Amino acid sequence: MSNDISLQRWTAADLAVLERTNTPQMTAFLGGPETQEKLEERNERYVRGWETGAAAMFTIRLEGERDPVGSVGYWPTMWHDLDVYETGWAVTEPFQGRGIASRAVVAVLKHAAEHGDRALMLAFPRVDNSASNALCRSCGFVHRGEEDFEYPAGNPIRTNVWAFGLQG
Ligand SMILES: CC(C)(COP(=O)(O)OP(=O)(O)OC[C@H]1O[C@@H](n2cnc3c(N)ncnc32)[C@H](O)[C@@H]1OP(=O)(O)O)[C@@H](O)C(=O)NCCC(=O)NCCS
Repeated sequence: MSNDISLQRWTAADLAVLERTNTPQMTAFLGGPETQEKLEERNERYVRGWETGAAAMFTIRLEGERDPVGSVGYWPTMWHDLDVYETGWAVTEPFQGRGIASRAVVAVLKHAAEHGDRALMLAFPRVDNSASNALCRSCGFVHRGEEDFEYPAGNPIRTNVWAFGLQG
């Protein structure tokens, strides 16, 4: 598989990436499209995350494409009293099914292993999110069961728990 993708630190100019991934299809497992106001808040949060350490969010660049083709990143969180990272991702519809998310997630795991200080990266895709569950499996995450979760806040969902060891 060619390695023609790269990750670029999120900037204020990347709001359009969030707008392009805010379709009904792409947010079907995430509670549906967000309002423009929420997208703008998210954009600011992603930029600020780099300054405060609250998140390390990237756009995904594909060689030969002017615009970013998606987003990927990670942020510190707690899971059963453990300090861990959580990761999340999106690849715009025209570019799906080409291994772009797989390469981007491998790159983000490498970034967290090199720059982070936590031992575990977790992902919580909804149990019926076939693409994200396949992505976890193919990137080497280990299945750690199912859990109840809320996403967005107030919306109960059932998720898988996938874990990837960042040390060693
Ligand atoms: C999840 C997502 C990022 C995958 O992006 P992608 O670039 O198409 O993924 P890849 O091409 O790298 O494929 C990754 C794996 O998923 C599988 N896959 C991709 N799309 C799939 C689908 N619709 N159904 C089942 N499996 C699928 C691939 O076959 C591959 O598995 P393999 O390595 O075992 O063959 C993309 O579908 C997306 O943005 N979805 C909407 C946002 C979302 O749900 N985010 C996650 C919230 S937890």
